[in-house]
Amino acid sequence: MPINDQPVTLNGAMIAVRDLRKAIGDEQILRGVDLDVAVGETLVIIGRSGGGKSVLLKHLIGLMQPDAGEIWVSGKNIIGMSERQLTNIRQKVGILFQSGALFDSMTVEENIAFPLREAGMHDVRAMRARVNEVLEVVELQGENAKMPESLSGGMRKRVGLARAIIRQPSCVLYDEPTSGLDPVVSDSINHLIRRLQERFQMTSVVVTHDMKSAMQVGDRIAYLHEGRIYFDGTPAELQQCDDPIIQDFLLGRSEAAPHQDRAG
Ligand SMILES: Nc1ncnc2c1ncn2[C@@H]1O[C@H](COP(=O)(O)OP(=O)(O)O)[C@@H](O)[C@H]1O
Ligand SMILES: [Mg+2]
Repeated sequence: MPINDQPVTLNGAMIAVRDLRKAIGDEQILRGVDLDVAVGETLVIIGRSGGGKSVLLKHLIGLMQPDAGEIWVSGKNIIGMSERQLTNIRQKVGILFQSGALFDSMTVEENIAFPLREAGMHDVRAMRARVNEVLEVVELQGENAKMPESLSGGMRKRVGLARAIIRQPSCVLYDEPTSGLDPVVSDSINHLIRRLQERFQMTSVVVTHDMKSAMQVGDRIAYLHEGRIYFDGTPAELQQCDDPIIQDFLLGRSEAAPHQDRAG
């Protein structure tokens, strides 16, 4: 039986990643990533800057193709899917890019409605109704006509999030949703991620290097280290973990400080 038809034992996982490998140039970025995201849970992926978190996230919706491995999204292996097939996956899985990636020449409403237009929707009134619904979800009611340049960093993230959920996905991927935001605004974004989980049973994958956010939003935390998932557990388990590599990361010690220090 071809691997694409196998009902692999995914145990109801929203996303399952198996032995994912990716090199960019000479650098082996992903070296065999295994990861499961259960339906309705919030999984946080932490790891050093430049460690491959964004690269991993892009693979999950087919924006990058791996050298080897499998990615199952609600039961379908997305590797080798056509762009048309991936369109269906991207309806199920929304993404909030690190920059927000808003179109500067479009209003808030036009930005948020963009995925609907791309999906072939033309009914202006129906689109506006959907936009207003998601604006309420992200607590930006009435901001339809603003231009992105007039928004604060936190508001831009919210607009990006509204756009990510406009097609009612069952899963949202967040790339550094709180980076560049002050602690109060970060808190409000973290609450929003939690609220989506409670209100819509949303499955979330949150990439961050901010440990406070990771602890706040994560049901589970996975640590990407040297191209593999080195640790996978609850926030409490992570905090109690006395593994030296984990400790170094939690305490913000540099990788350059060799472990021989302690052995010697
Ligand atoms: N499109 C690309 N072209 C070349 N190198 C890339 C590209 N995307 C990522 N990389 C490299 O892959 C590595 C991992 O990047 P990234 O996933 O962005 O790290 P993180 O998100 O964990 O900070 C980095 O060394 C980065 O320079
Ligand atoms: Mg990144």
